[in-house]
Amino acid sequence: MDNKELIRMLNRDLADEHAAVLRYIVHGYQEGEDTPTGASLLSRAREEMWHMHWLGMIIGQLGGEPDMKPAPYPFDPANRSTMFKSYIDYENKLIPHYKEEAGRVDDPHIKRVLEREAWESKVHAGKFNKILNKLTPDEASGKPGAGNKLPPEFISRLQEIIKNKYTQMLQGIRNAWIFQKDAKTGWQIMDFSMTKMKQLAHVAEEVAANGINPMFKTDKLDLGASLAEALKNAAADLEKTRVDHIALQIGDEIKKHAGLAINIELTVNQEEYEEAEIKEWIEALKSR
Ligand SMILES: [Fe+2]
Ligand SMILES: [Fe+2]
Repeated sequence: MDNKELIRMLNRDLADEHAAVLRYIVHGYQEGEDTPTGASLLSRAREEMWHMHWLGMIIGQLGGEPDMKPAPYPFDPANRSTMFKSYIDYENKLIPHYKEEAGRVDDPHIKRVLEREAWESKVHAGKFNKILNKLTPDEASGKPGAGNKLPPEFISRLQEIIKNKYTQMLQGIRNAWIFQKDAKTGWQIMDFSMTKMKQLAHVAEEVAANGINPMFKTDKLDLGASLAEALKNAAADLEKTRVDHIALQIGDEIKKHAGLAINIELTVNQEEYEEAEIKEWIEALKSR
């Protein structure tokens, strides 16, 4: 398999793993992190993030551009039973898929990663099967996510914040994979992407718990090859999202959501911290 074909193949896998992350996260938030089903779904989502990460690192090493657009995740949303059956199908299909791909590559690391994604998909199917078998009749025929109690205007503001943070986070992950040769900066960027995931979670959880799909959509990502440019954009973008978060702190609605208000304040402080750090990296890069 030539390099280009290999990158194309891994990018399709990346998009599938990304789809799985989003599906399990949204469902996990709808169930609630503090429920056994929700906790289990979020745990699967974290494992799908590893899967994404290994593929993204390889694509970056191969000189490819990672495809940050998730594939569709086909599932039957009728009730919990049909949802978990869809997840089991999805994971089961990935086992032969990854095994077949592993058989077609020569690089031992890539082969091992693909094989691992096969056997971890098998574990996922098994865990979902266990949840499915343990559902009470009421749970099985019901749907996750309580009715919405948030005013529409507040939801649209939260959705905008989710979209912007999701874009910023994916941009960071993409940059970390692309600039991994610059090991220290690559790792620092990834570190901040993890903070962004958490910041995203604070808001997305609130939205999903109200039975609404969080807006995991992105603006256009910057696919540039210059680290200096990427850092400059990252700092500017942080300033933008910080302004949005500060604006959300004003008004009566936020006062009704004490937990969210604390997390938004935390996010604002973290964004300020990250911006200052990134500006220092930019200076360090100039003097290199
Ligand atoms: Fe996976
Ligand atoms: Fe999986």
